[in-house]
Amino acid sequence: MTNTASDTLLFLRSWLTKPLEVAAIAPSSTRLAAAMTCEIDRYTGDVLELGPGTGIFTRALLRNGVRQDQLVLVERNPAFAALLRGRFPQATLIEGDAQHLRLSPARKIGAAVSGLPLLSMPRQTVHGILDAVFQHLGDGGSLFQFTYGPRCPVPSALLDAHGLEASFLRWVPLNLPPASVYRLSRRKR
Ligand SMILES: C[S@@+](CC[C@H](N)C(=O)[O-])C[C@H]1O[C@@H](n2cnc3c(N)ncnc32)[C@H](O)[C@@H]1O
Repeated sequence: MTNTASDTLLFLRSWLTKPLEVAAIAPSSTRLAAAMTCEIDRYTGDVLELGPGTGIFTRALLRNGVRQDQLVLVERNPAFAALLRGRFPQATLIEGDAQHLRLSPARKIGAAVSGLPLLSMPRQTVHGILDAVFQHLGDGGSLFQFTYGPRCPVPSALLDAHGLEASFLRWVPLNLPPASVYRLSRRKR
Protein backbone atom coordinates (compact mmCIF):
# COMPACT_ATOMS: atom_id res chain seq x y z
CA MET A 1 0.00 0.00 0.00
CA THR A 2 1.27 3.48 -0.83
CA ASN A 3 1.16 6.47 1.52
CA THR A 4 -2.24 8.13 1.92
CA ALA A 5 -2.71 11.90 1.58
CA SER A 6 -3.51 12.14 5.30
CA ASP A 7 -0.27 10.31 6.23
CA THR A 8 1.69 12.70 4.03
CA LEU A 9 -0.06 15.69 5.59
CA LEU A 10 0.57 14.45 9.14
CA PHE A 11 4.22 13.92 8.23
CA LEU A 12 4.57 17.40 6.82
CA ARG A 13 2.91 18.92 9.92
CA SER A 14 5.19 16.91 12.22
CA TRP A 15 8.24 17.96 10.23
CA LEU A 16 7.22 21.61 10.56
CA THR A 17 7.07 21.32 14.37
CA LYS A 18 10.10 18.99 14.83
CA PRO A 19 12.28 19.25 11.69
CA LEU A 20 15.38 17.61 13.17
CA GLU A 21 13.50 14.76 14.80
CA VAL A 22 11.26 13.91 11.83
CA ALA A 23 13.94 14.83 9.28
CA ALA A 24 11.83 14.15 6.16
CA ILE A 25 8.92 16.03 4.64
CA ALA A 26 7.12 12.87 3.53
CA PRO A 27 7.01 9.21 4.56
CA SER A 28 9.38 6.81 2.81
CA SER A 29 8.25 5.20 -0.44
CA THR A 30 7.03 1.60 -0.74
CA ARG A 31 10.24 0.89 -2.74
CA LEU A 32 12.39 1.98 0.18
CA ALA A 33 10.15 0.03 2.57
CA ALA A 34 10.62 -3.11 0.44
CA ALA A 35 14.41 -2.64 0.37
CA MET A 36 14.57 -2.08 4.14
CA THR A 37 12.60 -5.23 4.95
CA CYS A 38 13.61 -7.64 2.17
CA GLU A 39 15.66 -9.91 4.49
CA ILE A 40 12.98 -10.16 7.18
CA ASP A 41 10.06 -12.58 7.40
CA ARG A 42 8.02 -14.38 10.06
CA TYR A 43 10.90 -16.79 10.80
CA THR A 44 13.25 -13.94 11.74
CA GLY A 45 11.74 -13.74 15.25
CA ASP A 46 10.47 -10.57 16.84
CA VAL A 47 11.27 -7.39 14.94
CA LEU A 48 12.19 -4.07 16.49
CA GLU A 49 11.27 -0.96 14.51
CA LEU A 50 12.68 2.40 15.53
CA GLY A 51 10.99 5.58 14.32
CA PRO A 52 8.12 3.98 12.38
CA GLY A 53 6.40 7.33 11.71
CA THR A 54 3.16 6.51 9.89
CA GLY A 55 4.13 2.83 9.54
CA ILE A 56 5.27 2.39 5.94
CA PHE A 57 8.03 -0.09 6.97
CA THR A 58 5.63 -1.73 9.45
CA ARG A 59 3.22 -2.50 6.62
CA ALA A 60 6.05 -3.93 4.51
CA LEU A 61 7.02 -6.22 7.41
CA LEU A 62 3.42 -7.44 7.68
CA ARG A 63 3.37 -8.04 3.92
CA ASN A 64 6.48 -10.22 4.36
CA GLY A 65 4.49 -12.40 6.76
CA VAL A 66 5.70 -10.94 10.08
CA ARG A 67 2.78 -11.00 12.55
CA GLN A 68 1.73 -7.84 14.37
CA ASP A 69 2.43 -9.48 17.73
CA GLN A 70 6.05 -10.02 16.64
CA LEU A 71 6.55 -6.26 16.31
CA VAL A 72 8.02 -3.82 18.81
CA LEU A 73 7.54 -0.25 17.59
CA VAL A 74 9.45 2.59 19.25
CA GLU A 75 8.21 6.04 18.31
CA ARG A 76 8.93 9.28 20.10
CA ASN A 77 6.41 11.56 18.36
CA PRO A 78 3.01 11.40 20.16
CA ALA A 79 0.96 12.01 16.99
CA PHE A 80 2.69 9.16 15.14
CA ALA A 81 2.47 6.94 18.24
CA ALA A 82 -1.33 7.47 18.46
CA LEU A 83 -1.72 6.63 14.77
CA LEU A 84 0.41 3.47 15.09
CA ARG A 85 -1.52 2.33 18.18
CA GLY A 86 -4.77 2.49 16.22
CA ARG A 87 -3.30 0.93 13.09
CA PHE A 88 -1.34 -1.96 14.63
CA PRO A 89 -3.22 -2.79 17.86
CA GLN A 90 -1.48 -6.15 18.43
CA ALA A 91 2.04 -4.75 18.12
CA THR A 92 3.94 -3.60 21.21
CA LEU A 93 4.16 0.17 20.97
CA ILE A 94 6.68 2.05 23.08
CA GLU A 95 6.16 5.79 22.99
CA GLY A 96 9.58 7.11 23.85
CA ASP A 97 13.20 7.66 22.90
CA ALA A 98 14.94 4.75 21.16
CA GLN A 99 18.17 5.36 23.07
CA HIS A 100 16.42 4.45 26.36
CA LEU A 101 14.93 1.22 25.06
CA ARG A 102 14.51 -1.53 27.67
CA LEU A 103 12.75 -4.74 26.71
CA SER A 104 11.95 -7.86 28.67
CA PRO A 105 14.63 -10.54 28.06
CA ALA A 106 11.74 -12.81 26.98
CA ARG A 107 11.56 -10.88 23.70
CA LYS A 108 13.84 -12.53 21.19
CA ILE A 109 14.61 -9.81 18.67
CA GLY A 110 15.84 -11.24 15.38
CA ALA A 111 16.14 -8.01 13.38
CA ALA A 112 15.80 -4.26 13.77
CA VAL A 113 14.65 -1.71 11.21
CA SER A 114 15.42 1.94 11.76
CA GLY A 115 13.95 5.05 10.19
CA LEU A 116 15.78 7.21 12.73
CA PRO A 117 17.52 10.31 11.37
CA LEU A 118 20.98 9.32 12.64
CA LEU A 119 22.72 12.06 10.64
CA SER A 120 20.90 14.80 12.56
CA MET A 121 21.59 13.23 15.97
CA PRO A 122 24.52 13.96 18.28
CA ARG A 123 27.14 11.21 18.26
CA GLN A 124 26.40 10.35 21.89
CA THR A 125 22.75 9.69 21.02
CA VAL A 126 23.72 7.40 18.12
CA HIS A 127 26.06 5.60 20.52
CA GLY A 128 23.15 5.11 22.97
CA ILE A 129 20.86 3.84 20.19
CA LEU A 130 23.42 1.28 18.96
CA ASP A 131 23.93 0.12 22.55
CA ALA A 132 20.20 -0.30 23.07
CA VAL A 133 19.62 -2.10 19.76
CA PHE A 134 22.53 -4.56 19.96
CA GLN A 135 21.82 -5.31 23.60
CA HIS A 136 18.45 -6.71 22.50
CA LEU A 137 19.37 -8.15 19.10
CA GLY A 138 20.07 -11.89 19.07
CA ASP A 139 23.28 -13.42 17.63
CA GLY A 140 23.35 -13.05 13.87
CA GLY A 141 20.66 -10.34 13.98
CA SER A 142 21.03 -7.20 11.90
CA LEU A 143 19.95 -3.59 12.05
CA PHE A 144 18.70 -2.17 8.76
CA GLN A 145 19.15 1.58 8.40
CA PHE A 146 18.57 3.96 5.53
CA THR A 147 20.23 7.26 4.83
CA TYR A 148 19.92 10.12 2.37
CA GLY A 149 23.66 10.68 2.66
CA PRO A 150 26.46 9.32 0.44
CA ARG A 151 27.82 6.83 3.00
CA CYS A 152 26.84 4.75 6.00
CA PRO A 153 25.31 7.15 8.58
CA VAL A 154 27.23 5.48 11.41
CA PRO A 155 30.87 6.66 11.32
CA SER A 156 33.55 3.95 11.28
CA ALA A 157 34.88 4.94 14.71
CA LEU A 158 31.45 4.25 16.19
CA LEU A 159 31.16 0.95 14.28
CA ASP A 160 34.58 -0.04 15.67
CA ALA A 161 33.60 0.95 19.21
CA HIS A 162 30.56 -1.36 19.02
CA GLY A 163 32.33 -4.20 17.15
CA LEU A 164 30.02 -3.76 14.17
CA GLU A 165 30.37 -3.92 10.41
CA ALA A 166 28.18 -2.17 7.89
CA SER A 167 27.38 -3.35 4.39
CA PHE A 168 25.68 -1.42 1.65
CA LEU A 169 22.54 -3.25 0.53
CA ARG A 170 20.74 -1.16 -2.04
CA TRP A 171 20.25 2.30 -3.52
CA VAL A 172 16.60 3.33 -3.91
CA PRO A 173 16.21 6.18 -6.42
CA LEU A 174 12.40 6.13 -6.19
CA ASN A 175 12.19 7.85 -2.83
CA LEU A 176 12.03 11.51 -1.84
CA PRO A 177 14.95 12.06 -1.59
CA PRO A 178 16.72 8.95 -2.99
CA ALA A 179 18.08 6.79 -0.19
CA SER A 180 20.58 4.01 0.49
CA VAL A 181 20.01 1.01 2.73
CA TYR A 182 22.72 -0.45 4.99
CA ARG A 183 22.87 -3.61 7.08
CA LEU A 184 24.74 -3.34 10.39
CA SER A 185 25.76 -6.52 12.16
CA ARG A 186 28.24 -7.79 14.71
CA ARG A 187 31.71 -8.55 13.35
CA LYS A 188 32.50 -12.23 13.11
CA ARG A 189 35.36 -13.27 15.37
C1 LIG B 1 12.67 10.11 8.77
S1 LIG B 1 11.26 9.75 9.81
C2 LIG B 1 10.99 8.05 9.26
C3 LIG B 1 9.59 7.57 9.46
C4 LIG B 1 9.24 6.25 8.75
N1 LIG B 1 10.10 5.17 9.19
C5 LIG B 1 9.39 6.41 7.26
O1 LIG B 1 10.41 5.93 6.73
O2 LIG B 1 8.49 7.01 6.63
C6 LIG B 1 12.02 9.58 11.42
C7 LIG B 1 11.11 9.00 12.50
O3 LIG B 1 11.89 8.75 13.69
C8 LIG B 1 11.19 9.26 14.83
N2 LIG B 1 12.23 9.55 15.85
C9 LIG B 1 13.20 10.51 15.77
N3 LIG B 1 14.00 10.44 16.85
C10 LIG B 1 13.55 9.40 17.61
C11 LIG B 1 14.00 8.81 18.82
N4 LIG B 1 15.06 9.27 19.48
N5 LIG B 1 13.33 7.73 19.32
C12 LIG B 1 12.23 7.24 18.65
N6 LIG B 1 11.76 7.77 17.50
C13 LIG B 1 12.41 8.83 16.97
C14 LIG B 1 10.45 10.47 14.27
O4 LIG B 1 9.39 10.86 15.12
C15 LIG B 1 9.98 9.91 12.92
O5 LIG B 1 8.81 9.15 13.06
